[in-house]
Amino acid sequence: MCGIFAYLNYRVPRSRRDIFQTLVKGLQRLEYRGYDSAGIAVDGTGKDQAANISLFKKRGKVKALDEELYKNESIDLDAQLDTHFGIAHTRWATHGEPSAVNSHPHRSDKNNEFVVIHNGIITNYKELKKFLVSKGYDFESETDTEVIPKLIKYLYDNRENDFVSFSTLVDRVIQQLEGAFALVFKSIHFPAEAVATRRGSPLLIGVRSQYEFSTEQIPVQYNCSDSKKAAVEEKNCRNRQGSLNALHSVHDGMAMEFYFASDASAIIEHTNKVIYLEDDDVAVVMEGKLYVHRVKRTAGDDPVRVIQTLQMELQQIMKGNYKAFMQKEIFEQPESVVNTMRGRICFDRDTVVLGGLSDHLKEIKRCRRLIMIGCGTSYHAGVATRQILEELTELPVMVELASDFLDRITPVFRDDVCFFISQSGETADTLMALRYCKKRGALTVGITNTVGSSICRETDCGVHINAGPEVGVASTKAYTSQFVSLIMFGLMMSEDRLSLQERRLEIINGLKKLPELIKEVLALDDKIKALADELDHQRSLLVMGRGYNYATCLEGALKIKEITYMHSEGIMAGELKHGPLALIDKDMPVIMIIMKDSCYQKCQNALQQVTARHGRPIILCCKNDPEISKMAYKTIELPQTVDCLQGILSVIPLQLISFHLAVLRGYDVDCPRNLAKSVTVE
Ligand code: AGP
Repeated sequence: MCGIFAYLNYRVPRSRRDIFQTLVKGLQRLEYRGYDSAGIAVDGTGKDQAANISLFKKRGKVKALDEELYKNESIDLDAQLDTHFGIAHTRWATHGEPSAVNSHPHRSDKNNEFVVIHNGIITNYKELKKFLVSKGYDFESETDTEVIPKLIKYLYDNRENDFVSFSTLVDRVIQQLEGAFALVFKSIHFPAEAVATRRGSPLLIGVRSQYEFSTEQIPVQYNCSDSKKAAVEEKNCRNRQGSLNALHSVHDGMAMEFYFASDASAIIEHTNKVIYLEDDDVAVVMEGKLYVHRVKRTAGDDPVRVIQTLQMELQQIMKGNYKAFMQKEIFEQPESVVNTMRGRICFDRDTVVLGGLSDHLKEIKRCRRLIMIGCGTSYHAGVATRQILEELTELPVMVELASDFLDRITPVFRDDVCFFISQSGETADTLMALRYCKKRGALTVGITNTVGSSICRETDCGVHINAGPEVGVASTKAYTSQFVSLIMFGLMMSEDRLSLQERRLEIINGLKKLPELIKEVLALDDKIKALADELDHQRSLLVMGRGYNYATCLEGALKIKEITYMHSEGIMAGELKHGPLALIDKDMPVIMIIMKDSCYQKCQNALQQVTARHGRPIILCCKNDPEISKMAYKTIELPQTVDCLQGILSVIPLQLISFHLAVLRGYDVDCPRNLAKSVTVE
């Protein structure tokens, strides 16, 4: 998905080269989200730098844009800019093909009076465009975004007073917009001022100063509804130094740096002090100070925005010696599952406490059913744990794809408990489903990996899976941590059920040993790579299993198609004779998952059906399985664990196969074509 990054240095001298580098680096940190073009806007690179804005936009990778910046010999890269505001964007095409003209920043006119970067989708852009065209504004791109800079220019050109502030113009713009957006504006009329706002798309602001902040909070201002009065008030406020509640430090006019981004990973190397904007917040940086206001006051508004300290380390988002983030994240799983369990499972006392759910446990226990909602891999985490949750909670458990759940207008009641599973916490379909369930009075629980994400903030309670930043578009460690989190929820729910104590203990012991067993699976990497070498020429790959390992088939097939572009299908072995068996012949590669659990015999039957049609399966099985080892098929032997945890181990060879296949085929493992890390559009 699109990525926003912007940088404002106030009384911090930076060369133009430094500024370019900061902007480009910011975009590179967002590359993992998926994109197809990139662009930046900076103060004019000509003589009269403050009076104009230069735009650089390019289809393709950020690297190509970076090279473009240095090709132009007329740009003075050594020029020192004491105060400057630059904006940058990676675009993932929705309206209009990937091209320089469709990429951001978009501009108001040929003089670049206003420029804007946007994440999200403006749903009423056609109506706005029609209006603006009727007023004589020319459009150059096919995007929805372009109405925004045109609209702000229209409002500026038609202002009632000579004085109108940048933020007032933005207030007026967002009142006309429908859809989802995170926006950052720059203008030649308001040099060194930045205005940013959001609705439905994440946006945060990093702040850096050499001084300690004298406050940890920014009070939120509310605008006056009368626009004329508001303009006068604001002008007066500006004149009364410090009368607006702003982020002050020890003295006014101090050197400050501000970083605006759609994602903390672009900010963390500069500062760990951030403010997350709420929907409809308008943040303004003027003369080195940050103000936050809202156009309308609504019930339940938090009157302050707290300066939070990001816990993430730059190290965590660097690739290190791995070929790709995905590979690094696969190999991090022995630690990431420990982080998910840390402080929650007490292995000495066999207790499980999920702090984020404790206050709601009684209510959850009284509910009519559990509904687990997610997309892609997060949905698979629900499929993987459904059976054990049914067993441990003794409640009906529904698992739903967020998009389908909404399409069906699924009945939801006050006594339902709805889980929203999402690595990013920003997936539009899952977020929409959350709002849908909230409206109907259900208790909402977030299972997310991103602190401060929309799902995190909008759910009644939740569990942070603590897997650490996941950069590769293909989700790996988030899946296993979601899996472990949901298992822990089941264990917490069953703590006082006498009949389930033995089962609980078995699972808790299994979780204790899990990190070591994951390491054992990862040690099979060379063998798995050799299998990938053999599969490289294939065009299709089936993954078959049932029971606790069915989710592994779905998830493995998703990983394979997502990054290797090979057709792959996860098949429920019980369905084999109802159709998929027709696909089997001597040439069709099939990975069969046959673990020592209650489905073992049935899986053996499926194996017979496949081999009887001359299929040559690769079998994922438990170590030292005498039945399977006497067969002449290729195997990957995995350590055995508790049946309901086996899926955590069985998915890893499939993560590795897909990784190796993608490398062999020369594909970009972390940024597969057409895909984005966080799908913030419906
Ligand atoms: C997984 O490899 C995919 N990239 C994708 O299916 C992903 O899981 C899905 O888009 C949901 O994302 P979320 O977990 O951030 O909500």
